[in-house]
Amino acid sequence: MCPPDHYGVYYVINPWMDIARQADHAAAVAQWQSLRAALVAAGAQVSLVPPVEGLPDMVFTANAALIYRKRAIVSRFRHEQRAGEQPHFRRWLAEHGFEALDPPDGHAFEGAGDALFCGDTLYAGYRQRSDAIGHQKIGTLLGVRVLPLELVSAHFYHLDTCFCPLDAQTAIWFPPALDEYGRRVIRANIANLIEVEEAEARSFACNAAVVGRAVVTNIGCSGLHGRLRAAGFAPVEVPLSEFVKAGGSAKCLTLRLDGEEAAAWRQDDPGGNSENCHDRL
Ligand code: ARG
Repeated sequence: MCPPDHYGVYYVINPWMDIARQADHAAAVAQWQSLRAALVAAGAQVSLVPPVEGLPDMVFTANAALIYRKRAIVSRFRHEQRAGEQPHFRRWLAEHGFEALDPPDGHAFEGAGDALFCGDTLYAGYRQRSDAIGHQKIGTLLGVRVLPLELVSAHFYHLDTCFCPLDAQTAIWFPPALDEYGRRVIRANIANLIEVEEAEARSFACNAAVVGRAVVTNIGCSGLHGRLRAAGFAPVEVPLSEFVKAGGSAKCLTLRLDGEEAAAWRQDDPGGNSENCHDRL
């Protein structure tokens, strides 16, 4: 996670952002701390990347990189407003034992915001922030199957705003954010789908941080929380309104360094790097 010292809404790169609707800084700090406390209570150990003045969206560490074993594909942001975050994330990851790699030349890629493992498959959101061809090349480099999903709604511009794997067979989703083909791909590949309704999707219900069976979201997602409890999960709510003003919530504010809960690879070789695919992108 990245502390929100320099967080605020200072430019507009998605439909949630409006400079006239500024985040309340003290409230943002309190909300971020309560998210961190909820993750620790769920069993997570939280590492911090130092915040940098002038990079207000650096709090959204989901966009730092895609983590696969000890490799990190560092993001190349679509918007120049966030490009300054890249060297800071890259340095931190390299200093903490990750092999930091660039995404394929010429392609935007926004890390775990758009690339999420469910089982042994990488689900990859494209069009708004990441490029479809780049995702496929990353899949080839890592030796994993990629299923690209086109994101069709401006409010759901990252895959993690409309899709959240919970375990290898289960995911939360908001189907209208995908096209008909993407919906078919998800239904054909994930056995247990927990759907959220539009109002809760707009409260970032799909943007959940998952630790074990704990599923941490913004407040205002009680319909989803009921369905999660019925499916054997332990939903937790934390108010995150000040981050919704920049288009982010619980999941966006975190990057799982040891592999997402739903990623099959984290079971077989935790911390290892047994694959022999060291090709360049
Ligand atoms: N203001 C940020 C942006 O538009 C929010 C990023 C949210 N992150 C996420 N993983 N959905 O880039």
